[in-house]
Amino acid sequence: MRDGEEGGAIPLSDSLLAWYDRHARVMPWRTSPEDRRAGVVPDPYRVWLSEVMLQQTTVAAVREYFRRFTDRWPTVADLAAARDEDVMGEWAGLGYYARARNLLKCARAVVADHDGRFPATRDGLLTLPGIGPYTASAISAIAHDAPSTVVDGNVERVMARLYAIETPLPAAKAALTQCAALLTPQERAGDYAQAVMDLGATICTPRNPACGICPWQQPCAARRAGIQAELPRKLPKTAKPVRRGMVWIARSDEGILVERRPERGLLGGMIGFPGDGWDGAGGPAPLTAAWQEVGEVRHTFTHFDLYLTLFVASVPTGLTPSRGMFTPAAVFRPADLPTVMRKAWDVASSSLSSR
Ligand code: ADE
Repeated sequence: MRDGEEGGAIPLSDSLLAWYDRHARVMPWRTSPEDRRAGVVPDPYRVWLSEVMLQQTTVAAVREYFRRFTDRWPTVADLAAARDEDVMGEWAGLGYYARARNLLKCARAVVADHDGRFPATRDGLLTLPGIGPYTASAISAIAHDAPSTVVDGNVERVMARLYAIETPLPAAKAALTQCAALLTPQERAGDYAQAVMDLGATICTPRNPACGICPWQQPCAARRAGIQAELPRKLPKTAKPVRRGMVWIARSDEGILVERRPERGLLGGMIGFPGDGWDGAGGPAPLTAAWQEVGEVRHTFTHFDLYLTLFVASVPTGLTPSRGMFTPAAVFRPADLPTVMRKAWDVASSSLSSR
C-alpha cells in the first residue's frame, strides 16, 4: 500500500516533515525549511560538494572542509579552474582520494559540457564523473526537489526499524530501498530526504534510539516488537586483510624528501614519503643513508589495514634520491599530506628534530 492511501490516515512523510520543520539541523550547505518556503533555491554546487564530502566522514568533520572549499572556490567554475594539487591538498585528511580526483573531473565536466550548471535530473547527474546512484538521488532531491529516493546508512536503519525488517544487511538493501521509495513524497522531497537522514542521525541512532521523542514512534513496527535496538541486523564482518610496508623520511638542509604518488592506485596523486610499494616486497630505499627505524603507523583503508614501519635519516645535501625531491622545510605542509602520511610524519618528526 502506498503511503497516504490508508483510509485518511496522515501520510508518514507528513508527520516527519512536521518534525523536520521544528528540528532540522543547521548545516552550512543546507537550505532551511523556512528558507525553502520563502523561495530560497539551494545551490546545486554546494549540495553536490557536501554530499561527496559526507560520503567520507561525519557532518561535524565535513563542516570545516566545506567551509575551506567554498571560501576558496565559491562556484563550480572556480573549482574547475583550480590546480589539481591545491584541491588534493585541501582534501587531505578526508581520505579516499579517488573522490577528490573525481570531484575535479566532475566540476570540469559541468563547466565544459553543461555551461557551468549541474543537470537538474537524476539521469543527467548520473552521466557526470564520480556521481553514482546515491549522490544523483541526493542532489536531485535536495537541490531540485525531485521525488528521488535517497538511501544512506541512516535511512536503511530507519526503514529496517519502521518496518521491522529482520533480514540482515547487506541482503536487506533492496527491500529497505523499496520501503524508502514507497514513503518518498512527491512534494518537499528534498526536505523529506534530509528529514529521514536527520531522524537517523539524532533519534533513530544505532544504539539507544530515543523512541520517546520520535515522530514515527506510533507506526514503528520494531518498537512495537521491542527489537528496535537490534535492527538492522548485520552479517558478521570479516576481518580486513593486512598489508605491511616501509616508509622512508629523509631530511637534509635542502628540506624533506617527498614524492608525488602515481595518479592511479592508492593515494593516487597525493604527496607522500617514499615507500616500498606496501605489497610485502620490501626496499629499495630512495637513498643510501644510515636509516633508523623509529616506529610503526597503522592505518585502515576501505579494503585493508596497512602497517608501515618508519625509517628516518638526516642526510647531507647534494644527494640525488632515486625517487622524490627535497621540499624546503618552509613550504612543507604536513596538513596537506594524506592521513597515513601525516601519522608517519607525526611519529618521525620528533626523531628527526632531536638528531
Ligand atoms: N548525510 C548526507 N547528506 C546529508 C544531508 N543533506 N543532511 C543530513 N545528513 C546527511
